[in-house]
Amino acid sequence: MPASVPGSQTLDSVPLLDLQRQYEQIRAEVLAAVGRVCASQHYILGAEVEALERELASFCGAKDAIGCASGTDALWLALVAAGIQPGDHVFTTPFSFFASASAIARAGARPVFADIDPLTFNLDPAKVESHLRAGKHRALRALLPVHLYGQCADMDAFSQLAKEFDLALIEDAAQAIGARWRDASAGSLGESAAFSFYPTKNLSAYGDAGLVTTNSADAAAHMRRLRNHGGSRRYVHEEMGWNSRLDAIQAAILRVKLKFVDGWNQSRRERAAKYDQLFAASGLTSTGQQPENAAPIRLPQTSEHAHHVFHQYVVRAYRRDELREFLTARKIGNEIYYPIPLHLQPCFIYLGHLEGDFPEAERAAKEVLALPMFPELIEEEQRWVVQSIADFYC
Ligand SMILES: Cc1ncc(COP(=O)(O)O)c(C=O)c1O
Repeated sequence: MPASVPGSQTLDSVPLLDLQRQYEQIRAEVLAAVGRVCASQHYILGAEVEALERELASFCGAKDAIGCASGTDALWLALVAAGIQPGDHVFTTPFSFFASASAIARAGARPVFADIDPLTFNLDPAKVESHLRAGKHRALRALLPVHLYGQCADMDAFSQLAKEFDLALIEDAAQAIGARWRDASAGSLGESAAFSFYPTKNLSAYGDAGLVTTNSADAAAHMRRLRNHGGSRRYVHEEMGWNSRLDAIQAAILRVKLKFVDGWNQSRRERAAKYDQLFAASGLTSTGQQPENAAPIRLPQTSEHAHHVFHQYVVRAYRRDELREFLTARKIGNEIYYPIPLHLQPCFIYLGHLEGDFPEAERAAKEVLALPMFPELIEEEQRWVVQSIADFYC
């Protein structure tokens, strides 16, 4: 029987994310940055975008960065610049946001899935390796692991596989700005990496925005053409590109916020550690003597080599959907990332997958629950979240 959480008080609500609290801290700087762009009357690409590209490349330890319109476009740019063509196959995880796979399809290639590691929720390199060793995918050209929830995938193993099987390695780092694998930052761990600055992300714009980091000068030049209708000179189009230019206002706002990201990520890590501690103390994570008395809550696990930046704090919960309803009735923010694995999405029916193909991804989709997580979340709110979960299981 879970205990009560010491010091918890009833609250009216706890948001899943409250961007207002962040805006209050940085409002003057953000408005000044927007004012600077308005004074210049230069709204697309230009000096602000170039400065952001330099600053983010340096932040991630990469040689170059290319701003674009969204994280989805960043994935597409990275894939096309890596030479992915119609008919090619690209490995990714079935347990991610839709864009991880849709960008592959948009590049004309076929997403190929392998199951996830149930502890980290990330693509399991051992499963990818067994496909590769079985020689099943001759058209395979790239690996696209996702750093889900802010934790890097096992990049030692994926780098090794990419090298051995001569595959491009592209990071989906949309949720992982500032995360590290050993001493290297997300964005510097593969041939290129895609970031999203969607407003809920750890580094977020005031609209849609994205960026690719790369160490390849050729790939960078190619992506700069692709994001601007495939041309390097005005009205001359060497290939089919797209309009995926980044707005100067978004770049200027992101430059303000970039200075705070390490501090905000540290605050997220502290809040994750506080949740771990509160859950352990509440008895919700203890397993009973009998197998049927499994712990109602299982906490997120971090690999020993990962510096996790907790874009999300996600637990596995027994009777997850009922718990969700209970928390929602108490106005405690919660979300399921992601309720339908990608191999079972209606638009991917042509891939021929059935339920049961990737059991760990399917189990995760039924069990995961994201709890309120943002740098300004206060301890009183965390206590109330954990108390409420304890109340549900009483
Ligand atoms: C893992 C992952 N990949 C790709 C994307 C796509 O980014 P965007 O929403 O900026 O297009 C997201 C964003 O939600 C994401 O979480």
